[in-house]
Amino acid sequence: MSKKFYITTPIYYPSASPHLGHAYCTTLCDVIARGKRMRGFETFFLTGLDEHGEKIQKNAQAKGVTPQQFVDEVATRFFSLWEAMGISNDDFIRTTQPRHEKTVQKIFSKMLEKDDIYLSTYSGWYCVHEESYWTETQVGENHLCPECGRPVEQKDEEAYFYRCQKYTDELLAYYDSNPLFITPESRKNEMVNTFIKPGLLDLCVSRTSFSWGIQVVENPKHVIYVWLDALTNYITALGYLQEDDSNFQKFWMDEESEIVHVIGADINRFHTIYWPMFLGSLGLRKPNRVFVHGLLMMKDGKMSKSKGNAISAYPLIERYGVDAVRYYLVSEVPFGQNGTFTPEQFVMRVNQDLVNNYGNLLNRTASMIIKYFGGIIPEYTKASDALDEEIDALIRATKVAYETLNDDLQVTAAYEKVMELISRANKFIEEKAPWALAKDPEKKPELEGVMARLAHVIYAASLMLSPILIHKADEAFSVLGVTNPSYEEIDSFGCLKGNEIHKGDVLFQRLDAEKEIEEIIKMMTGPKETVAA
Ligand code: MSP
Repeated sequence: MSKKFYITTPIYYPSASPHLGHAYCTTLCDVIARGKRMRGFETFFLTGLDEHGEKIQKNAQAKGVTPQQFVDEVATRFFSLWEAMGISNDDFIRTTQPRHEKTVQKIFSKMLEKDDIYLSTYSGWYCVHEESYWTETQVGENHLCPECGRPVEQKDEEAYFYRCQKYTDELLAYYDSNPLFITPESRKNEMVNTFIKPGLLDLCVSRTSFSWGIQVVENPKHVIYVWLDALTNYITALGYLQEDDSNFQKFWMDEESEIVHVIGADINRFHTIYWPMFLGSLGLRKPNRVFVHGLLMMKDGKMSKSKGNAISAYPLIERYGVDAVRYYLVSEVPFGQNGTFTPEQFVMRVNQDLVNNYGNLLNRTASMIIKYFGGIIPEYTKASDALDEEIDALIRATKVAYETLNDDLQVTAAYEKVMELISRANKFIEEKAPWALAKDPEKKPELEGVMARLAHVIYAASLMLSPILIHKADEAFSVLGVTNPSYEEIDSFGCLKGNEIHKGDVLFQRLDAEKEIEEIIKMMTGPKETVAA
């Protein structure tokens, strides 16, 4: 039976159009999901939108539309972007869908019945932007939100509270017995030292001051706190407490299923403290991993609409193709660290890795197979020297490292290994000098081995790159005459023997650095419709 894998992105706020930062997180998850599917894991990849809350209500009011109209319109922009980016999600959850709303009400009732939630009065410092209450100490003398730095306001309201203390020990025990639960580890220390050790206050989980949310059935003037509503999307989308809960049984309840949430550091506290506690209330298992990725920034800091420094993915896709944009996102910012988008680096990545390294290997190899073997891939002859042996060993080692690193969510490092294999193969051409071997009839078996090895490196690398290069890997397969690519064949040296090379256009056009840097700068300062936070 195949292993199961469940991966989620955060559900984004449809408060404005998505920018390259949102595309970053979703693309990385897509690459992970595609990689697992290719390797035979039964995979479920979820993304969606977090459509309730005061901020959305206020944005809708400002535009003179209903909140539902507002989110429906913004949702279409997310759908289009994911389509353009080639995102292969299995479901798309919107928190205004009845399947979600009804289930959240049931979840709230369960928590009330268990006395994990109680009614009381809240008085505290509230940040409208973060939709969070803060303590006197947290807001400091200037009364500013510790999360976003905006001014907070004093509020009193009847509210329901979640008993955090009841689940704190269970949470800490889970951290201890699952050292990979929060990755990178620094993110765990932050949670323990800043939030848990000082003592968790009970969490306020309802609001009466606005109406755009899911009603508490037992007390309809309350709407359920947006984070309790939002976090549960990860199980409502699978059918939890619904008639058809087969995906829930398969991807959540089955201990064999690995559950991975990928999030930005800004929402770590909710995912690694409150979410596991809520699951504790429901008597459900906790996720295996919460992977906290870094932010994609601009030179002057975090991308945001107010700063006017965000870049949309569209003009980049239009000009350079979706594969180049996907490759840039995976390769440029090591997964787990912050990174800065610069036009120079974008152009450099495309030219160095995709044009000079990958595209060039394919091009040279295809030309030589045509020249020396009439376009038919020759036999993978026995290694004739240490160089041949090194290539054979490197293909095997790269596959192992690729799988181990991907399974550990070190995605950038996994793909770097593939690029290293390609670089090594380009160097192998220089070392073996096939043009010299071709002059000596006695060296024919060696020449056959060299060309077959090169073709196989390209096949193996294209398979491993295919979760990123969703179109270009197919083009490479067709150059190699492969109609039915299969990941398992990486280990079948010689499987390409007899295939006919179909040389097409170059995979990636070399970019004129100076010109393209200027073009990208124009995109960054371009019309406002393409730029949003
Ligand atoms: N709605 C909540 C999440 C609820 S999940 C149950 C939310 N939404 S958000 O629209 O603000 O999106 C947050 C996520 O978008 C971040 O955690 C991060 O994954 C991603 N990113 C937003 N801007 C980003 C960058 N500039 N760079 C990288 N990722 C970015 O919080």
